[in-house]
This record gives sequence, C-alpha cells and structure tokens, in this order.
Amino acid sequence: MSTMIQRYTARERSNHWVVAIAFILAGLSGLALFHPAFFFLTNLFGGGPWTRILHPFIGVAMFLFFMAMAVRFWGRNRFTPADREWRKRIKDVLCNRDQGLPEVGKYNAGQKILFWLMVVSIPVLLVSGVVVWQPWFAPFFPIGLLRVAVVVHALAAWIMILGIVVHVYAAIWVKGTVRAMTRGTVSAAWAKQHHRAWYREMTGK
Ligand code: HEM
Repeated sequence: MSTMIQRYTARERSNHWVVAIAFILAGLSGLALFHPAFFFLTNLFGGGPWTRILHPFIGVAMFLFFMAMAVRFWGRNRFTPADREWRKRIKDVLCNRDQGLPEVGKYNAGQKILFWLMVVSIPVLLVSGVVVWQPWFAPFFPIGLLRVAVVVHALAAWIMILGIVVHVYAAIWVKGTVRAMTRGTVSAAWAKQHHRAWYREMTGK
C-alpha cells in the first residue's frame, strides 16, 4: 500500500458529516414544502405539520455546524495568484492535462469557489428563513419583505443544491478523494497529483 497522508482530523470529519446530513434533511424537508410534487417527502418527517415544524430547526443546526466548519477551513480557502491561472486553464484540468498547471495547495480554485458560495448562501438562507418563520419571527416583518424573503430563500436553496451536486460529483470523480472525508487520509500519490504544493508542505519533499 502506498504511503498515506493525514488530510482531516476526526473532529473535522464529524463536523463535515453533521453538516452534510443536516443539508440533506433540510433539503428534503424544504423541497416537500416548496412544491406539491415533492409533498410525498413529508412522509419522511412525520407528516406535513412536522415537516413544517422541523425544517427551520434543521436549517439553524446546519447553519451553526457549517459556521464551525467554515472557521476551521477559512484560511486554507483564501485565493492566491496561482488560483487565477488554474481557473484560466480549467479545460486542461478537466481533460487531465496536468502538466505545467500551477501547483495546487490544500484546495484548488474550484473547491475554493464552492467554499465561498456556501459561506454566502448559508447565511442568506438563515436570514431569509428567519424572516418567514411562522409564528415566531414573521409577524414582526411587513408582508412585502416576507414575499421577497421567500423568493430569496428558494433561490439561495437552489444555488446550494446545485453547488453541492457539483461538490459530491467532483469528490467521487477524482478517485481517492472520498476517503479524505471518511478515513481522514489520502495516498501520497493522490496528494502529489492533485495538490502538489500541499504535498510538499506535508512531506517536505
Ligand atoms: C452530501 C454529501 C457530501 C459528500 C460526499 C462530500 C464529500 C467531501 C469530500 C470527499 C471532501 C474532501 C475534499 C478534499 O479534501 O479535497 C469534502 C470537503 C468539504 N466539504 Fe463536503 N461532501 C458532502 C456534503 C457537503 C455539504 C452539504 C457541505 C456544506 C454545506 C460540504 C462542505 C465541504 C467543505 C467546506 C469542504 C472542505 C473543502 C473546501 O473548503 O472547499 N460538503 N466534502
């Protein structure tokens, strides 16, 4: 077996999977409330009223755990000049023509873009969700604001869902990545191939 490099601690992984589970539950319960075609999903949450009661609480849990994760990963997701070059050469990245690409640190520009998309869309979901949260907060806001908030909430949710579909697809597509979040380790060959600057940093080679 090739040498393994530690990429995530157990705490980081637990944090990530709590967010992922909350995201799936918030997404399914949210879709159930979004359109009658998805109403059958309320069966997963104990019926219509329970779906309606639970959805905002799951959302708040997702927000809190995501913020804890965002703080942990913040520094590693700052953009660098090399990221611009990587973005420009995205075609080469997608076609596996890795020669001559700038060396990637712990995260590539695509991962960073997704990270910041989440950092923006999750607070937008929280704020717009609180505004329409009956019966606790919604009565404090004018009806015009509620109408805007409900559209913003749905839009931010769609952006999130699309973003996470890309995130999961990329994690599966780049062989050897999922184990980073399940076991916490990646092979040295994976690190060298996809995140060479990080590989150098970790191994001193
Ligand atoms: C639902 C299924 C999901 C799967 C299979 C999955 C898988 C993964 C994997 C394998 C990594 C490690 C990538 C690497 O180290 O290069 C990762 C990182 C990460 N994941 Fe997920 N994930 C999922 C859901 C989510 C959700 C719902 C969120 C946030 C709302 C999220 C946020 C992140 C973040 C912030 C990172 C660190 C990378 C970065 O900062 O860009 N993930 N995920």
